[in-house]
Amino acid sequence: MKVLVTGANGQLGLSLQAGSNAYPGYEFLFTDIEDLDITSYDAVEKLVLSFNPEVLINCASYNAVDKAEDEPLPALNINGKAVQKLAGLARKHSFGLIHISTDYIFDGKKGTPYTELDEPHPQSKYAHSKFIGEQAIHTARPNAAIIRTSWLYSEYAHNFVKTIRKLAMERDELRVVSDQQGTPTYAGDLANAIFVVLDKVNNFNGVRTYNYSNEGLTSWAGFAAAIIEYSGLDCKVIPVTTEEYGASMAARPAFSLLDKSKIKKEFNIDIPEWQESLKKCIKELKKEE
Ligand SMILES: NC(=O)c1ccc[n+]([C@@H]2O[C@H](COP(=O)([O-])OP(=O)(O)OC[C@H]3O[C@@H](n4cnc5c(N)ncnc54)[C@H](OP(=O)(O)O)[C@@H]3O)[C@@H](O)[C@H]2O)c1
Repeated sequence: MKVLVTGANGQLGLSLQAGSNAYPGYEFLFTDIEDLDITSYDAVEKLVLSFNPEVLINCASYNAVDKAEDEPLPALNINGKAVQKLAGLARKHSFGLIHISTDYIFDGKKGTPYTELDEPHPQSKYAHSKFIGEQAIHTARPNAAIIRTSWLYSEYAHNFVKTIRKLAMERDELRVVSDQQGTPTYAGDLANAIFVVLDKVNNFNGVRTYNYSNEGLTSWAGFAAAIIEYSGLDCKVIPVTTEEYGASMAARPAFSLLDKSKIKKEFNIDIPEWQESLKKCIKELKKEE
């Protein structure tokens, strides 16, 4: 199978690159903005025509959640318009599309786990742009999987785990938000789930949405405390409310636990608890020290 991956130098893309070694029968073409800008529509179609993928995995995204409040246009172009074009190409040239979306499309007011059937209600410009991308895929109607994930981290690029480890090495205490609850997701686990979906997406006969995060529930403060503990660092986490923390511009859901029943049942996959995967990631990060 020929698989084109966009945004492949980000966290998820690099996790897919690392995991792709276990799939020698697949021909992956990993691209990022330097060689394939997904907002350059002609270039994308040209590459699609020459490489002829059976599936495109879109890991490209504009993820600067707070910055998007002031400058929404790049988010709309990359997460909305470009996704519309990718979905149109997928339909036109009959390849499957795997696209990644976010728990932030929900408003966080439900209080019980969000299923794929719950109505999105994005609260920020970033979340709104991601929701526009989802809607565009439904309109174009290729064979596609939209996988919503949350609180993604990995050994790669910038993420919360790396930031907390760095700060905990420098400081005695850290103030971290405790009234936003959700589930961290190890990009390596999400990549493994994507490899399973990869084989099936061309048989979907339309668009299917799935939730994927690790199992369990915590707050950013709980996540930070676990990062510090598993890293063997000495730094106190001081839980604060979002209001007390104050610095963020974009609204974030207070509770965004995703119900993963659908993806687990349909693809027969086991999902690790978030603590288990966090330990694995920290072990990898320690090897680099
Ligand atoms: N990170 C999270 O906490 C989180 C949570 C929920 C959902 N998600 C979703 O999960 C997916 C993967 O996230 P991630 O954390 O792996 O993202 P990431 O690390 O930010 O990677 C995104 C990659 O896309 C590239 N990119 C940006 N604009 C592009 C363009 N126009 N054309 C081609 N590539 C472009 C980025 O390059 P530059 O770095 O040069 O911009 C980066 O290499 C995204 O859809 C994201 O919305 C993430």
